[in-house]
Amino acid sequence: MSEKNKSILITGGAGFIGSHVVRLFVNKYPEYQIYNLDALTYAGNLENIKDLESQKNYHFIKADIKEGDVMHELFLEHRFDAVIHLAAESHVDRSITNPNDFIETNVLGTANLLNAFRAAHENSFEGKLFYHVSTDEVYGSLGKTGLFTETTSYDPQSPYASSKAASDHIVRAYGNTYGLPFVISNCSNNYGANQFPEKLIPLFINNIKKSMPLPVYGDGNYTRDWLFVEDHATAIDTIFHEGTLGETYNIGGFNEWTNLNLIKLLCQLMDQKLGRDKGSSEQLITYVKDRAGHDRRYAIDADKINRNLGWKPSVTFEEGLEKTLDWYLANENWLDNVTSGAYQTYYKKMYS
Ligand code: NAD
Ligand code: DAU
Repeated sequence: MSEKNKSILITGGAGFIGSHVVRLFVNKYPEYQIYNLDALTYAGNLENIKDLESQKNYHFIKADIKEGDVMHELFLEHRFDAVIHLAAESHVDRSITNPNDFIETNVLGTANLLNAFRAAHENSFEGKLFYHVSTDEVYGSLGKTGLFTETTSYDPQSPYASSKAASDHIVRAYGNTYGLPFVISNCSNNYGANQFPEKLIPLFINNIKKSMPLPVYGDGNYTRDWLFVEDHATAIDTIFHEGTLGETYNIGGFNEWTNLNLIKLLCQLMDQKLGRDKGSSEQLITYVKDRAGHDRRYAIDADKINRNLGWKPSVTFEEGLEKTLDWYLANENWLDNVTSGAYQTYYKKMYS
């Protein structure tokens, strides 16, 4: 999609990845009107996009995608040319405790947006685009070798993954049935500034800072493929503007780490930054009960987006991790604010 003067709805823009996507689009494309729709759940935080508030092409809408009538009215009012849909319940552990929240937001919420998009354009979609942001978890778990490609069969294993898989299928079905123009991308694990400290990297940074136990699930030999969040945002920008309608793109950094190796690296870097004795943070590692149905290994083959659209990550893992640690250490207030209140209750329930 490349025409100018678009109005673009970005959902979930107060969350982790969404805030980076909104920032990139608002700053890079002053000719676009960017509408950030977010329900501000526990994971949404207006602090994440505070720097954008005074920008002329930025607008915030507090709304819940679970409310179909509200979505319908909003789309009729604004007739957005494009949607970049990131709003979701995103944490696997929470999906194990409360699966219905995931089905309602991720499945029904996505269908509500698609229905509203169709109604607003009366099924006439010239120049329009629905971009659905998804995850590599839809493909399930890999053995010791192999990579997820765009043609890997879906095999989601957690309530979160299955809700995202269902939403991907619904988007494709609307493309097939109503001719709704879409693209989908499935990305690997993101890390970077503004990630809520329920996810591995920010949770461990916070715990190391506070000299609290580092809860490693199971044997710690689970593998994830990590991508710097700002690189995910540039990949979304590239696919939005250059991607082929109806296609799926896998996004990743060819950057696999076992949890244990990653945690040890994190401990070393934090010891250096905090001026602590070498090896002291590693002593905080504590093995805890494994996550139910824990996927053993994810790894993305990002060859298609590289070959067809010329996208590749801009930073190495070491550079991205360093930037991330520096951000968390420089933004203690952000971390303190999000870890007060309800976070304490969540943490006790999960880890004690
Ligand atoms: P996040 O949990 O940090 O943010 C989600 C945002 O969505 C929050 O701002 C929240 O307030 C909002 N939201 C939740 N429910 C809503 C609702 N019913 N209505 C409106 N807004 C609602 O999530 P994230 O990690 O930034 O993930 C964003 C998207 O990217 C998700 O779709 C996720 O599946 C996908 N994804 C995430 C990763 C990752 O590593 N974090 C990797 C690949 C794909
Ligand atoms: O692969 C993409 C997915 O990555 C996204 O779709 C999800 O939204 C995102 O949350 C992430 O899912 P993971 O389950 O891989 O991320 P998480 O940070 O929760 O866990 C990463 C690994 O670390 C996983 O193997 C579980 C383990 N872990 C996690 C936590 C929070 C621990 O060992 N201890 C912990 O306390």
